[in-house]
Amino acid sequence: MKTYPMQREKTCPFAPPPEYQELRDTEPISRVRLYDGRKAWLFTRYEDIRAVLAHPAVSAETLNPDFPFLTPGDKISKQAQSFQRWDDPRHATRRRMLMPFFTIKRIRAMRPRIREMIDDIYARMLAIGPPLDLVEHLALALPSSVACDLLGVDYETHEFFESRFAVRLDRRSTAEQVQAANTEVRAFVDDVVRSKYGANKPDLIGQFVTQHVETGEVSHEDAVTDAVLLLLAGHETTANMIALGTLALLEHPDQLALIRKDPTTVPNAVEELLRFLTISQSMGVRIAADDFEIAGQPIAAGDGLILPVAAGNWDDSVFSHPEQFDVTREARGHITFGFGPHVCLGQPLARLELEEVFSTLFDRFPGLRVDLPPDEVPFKFDAVFYGLHRLPIVWDEKESA
Ligand code: HEM
Repeated sequence: MKTYPMQREKTCPFAPPPEYQELRDTEPISRVRLYDGRKAWLFTRYEDIRAVLAHPAVSAETLNPDFPFLTPGDKISKQAQSFQRWDDPRHATRRRMLMPFFTIKRIRAMRPRIREMIDDIYARMLAIGPPLDLVEHLALALPSSVACDLLGVDYETHEFFESRFAVRLDRRSTAEQVQAANTEVRAFVDDVVRSKYGANKPDLIGQFVTQHVETGEVSHEDAVTDAVLLLLAGHETTANMIALGTLALLEHPDQLALIRKDPTTVPNAVEELLRFLTISQSMGVRIAADDFEIAGQPIAAGDGLILPVAAGNWDDSVFSHPEQFDVTREARGHITFGFGPHVCLGQPLARLELEEVFSTLFDRFPGLRVDLPPDEVPFKFDAVFYGLHRLPIVWDEKESA
């Protein structure tokens, strides 16, 4: 029996763990052993992963004593109990309160503001000059600024929360380290939420407090928990996509040339980057609330269920030659943002940020290249979200605008 989580291979760092393909061919619904000796079902076919994520007998409730945690730190993080860990109907009720902040119309209206932020970031990078770390100066800087702007958090505090979230998202962190990081972030976000009382602030946390907390509908504690989730989800995910996406494009110059030649292809290229890289390494974990059957396999109430979206995105019966990074392919059916009731709430925002970066970065920094030998690029093999610890870059200064 294999152990989960499996690792990506250093020799093929863009690909998901090779065991997914192997299992898909031999035993697409298989038993795996977790760190604490418990067993769970691992699904590796696209159709099965989607069917389970959307199944009414499947629960996201992490307080269930049989929930399959992946590491000791994972248990501490997931038991923090944001609405992401609730089931419907209470999950749907809370999600409906947040949805108005993430409609496509509302997010599109943020485009000019995001363009300004990107311009400021590029101006700072040009002023510093090469070499610099793209992760720090762009990949983290943009989503952090956007998340702070959207939520109403002071951007000056970004180093504080980024460092605490980094501990939480490192699968090697101990339960005590994750607990300490969580406590500090929670105290910080608690202050942010308190600062919105009686102020009717226009930002997301401000409006959420005015509309749902001050009316008594949502408790202060719950508002803090959900604000922590939004701050975390709003920056770390997109940051990893920017860093890893830049590297993937640089390593596939033919594909980069296509999007530079015709910028209208960038939205499709972003979908392919989301599919190809699938940075969500530890998401899509559930528990069976009732007995059910899937593809002929009986599942019993209380069984742990692991639905790695990266396995689905590299299922060659859905995406032919999944190992080929092809910005022209129809990749929109990918499940990088999950599937079913918990599908990512922030996906329009992530897409907007990625489109804006990848349609401008390579023109503003001509000759952009990685300033490290390929075998020294530090991939985040042990993180909840896959990405890069740092990406030193250089470019041709004389030509940059
Ligand atoms: C490329 C960037 C992103 C990726 C790959 C991503 C991925 C995901 C995935 C896979 C899920 C489902 C998890 C599950 O089923 O267990 C999810 C849920 C969620 N995401 Fe994202 N996300 C991204 C960006 C964002 C952003 C920018 C925000 C907010 C500002 C956000 C907010 C959320 C929230 C609130 C949920 C929970 C939804 C629910 O449980 O109903 N995400 N995300």
